[in-house]
Amino acid sequence: MESLTRTLPASWFCSPALYQLERRAVFLKSWHFLGPVTRFQKRGEQLKYEIAQVTVIVENTSPEKEGIDVDGITVCAEDEGVKIKSRLTPSGLLFVALSLEAPDFEDFFEGLEELTNKVDFTKLPHRRSISYEGRFNWKTMIDGYQECLHCQYTHPTFSKFYPPTFYSVTNHKNFSQHIADPSKKSDGLFLYFFPICTLNVYGGGMTSFRTLPSANPGISRMEFDYYHEGSDEEFEEYFKFVRQVAIEDFELCEKAQENLERGVYGEGILNPVKENGVRFYQQRVKELVYRQHALEKAAKDEKSNTVQVHAEMDGGSKVIAVQ
Ligand SMILES: [Fe+2]
Repeated sequence: MESLTRTLPASWFCSPALYQLERRAVFLKSWHFLGPVTRFQKRGEQLKYEIAQVTVIVENTSPEKEGIDVDGITVCAEDEGVKIKSRLTPSGLLFVALSLEAPDFEDFFEGLEELTNKVDFTKLPHRRSISYEGRFNWKTMIDGYQECLHCQYTHPTFSKFYPPTFYSVTNHKNFSQHIADPSKKSDGLFLYFFPICTLNVYGGGMTSFRTLPSANPGISRMEFDYYHEGSDEEFEEYFKFVRQVAIEDFELCEKAQENLERGVYGEGILNPVKENGVRFYQQRVKELVYRQHALEKAAKDEKSNTVQVHAEMDGGSKVIAVQ
């Protein structure tokens, strides 16, 4: 029998030093989803995104009457004003990488375009965006997103339309696909893009959200973008429905974080079937953080060896190389 996986310990949700390590290991080396092209419909409007303390600016510079292609979307880092790595998928989804250290898009999200190319994401117009802060670590929110064990008691309205009985998560390379009901593939489709972005098609519209980390590991900023093609009334109905679910999750996360910070919860065992999505992304974080730590330790050791060599050379020692 496969051994059961444990959750990341509570310290990973509370330590500022661990967040800094996560920032270098995870955020600066990942691709982040910003939105479908319909988010960038307004020509000349600069949209700012702050991800892990890096600000990027997106602008649609394509001619008004033409469709948007990859050359029409400019993504720059605010600091240097230079273009950064971006990817507009054939189905119309825009992703950015925060540093040159991120792997190639195809390598990072292997197999993603095969899946997203089946859907045209350019149909639903952008209707509204909202943003606010929450008292929880970014992983507290992603933990909840990546499983639906909590759905039945936390989301009574959602569960009525999407019974958790059928809910399943399939993990791929740096992304997960959630299906609420296998008989309705185009409704109840949820995509998680490691580490902090999601795209959710349900209830007649589409929502994307990002859980943005801050230097304080107990604080995150939620950013939501809503897409819908119905009338104002229909959109408001949809908005009310999806907001209800988001508020329920928000309250749950603030309470969970409180328990993590007070030492009420240390770590536990993950359900291998119902929490396979949590296991997948937490293991990914752990793997990347450990790798980064080893890299930085090796670089530090190398540096101290160099210092030692220099000291010895300066001191006239015969030893000129230290392993
Ligand atoms: Fe939830």
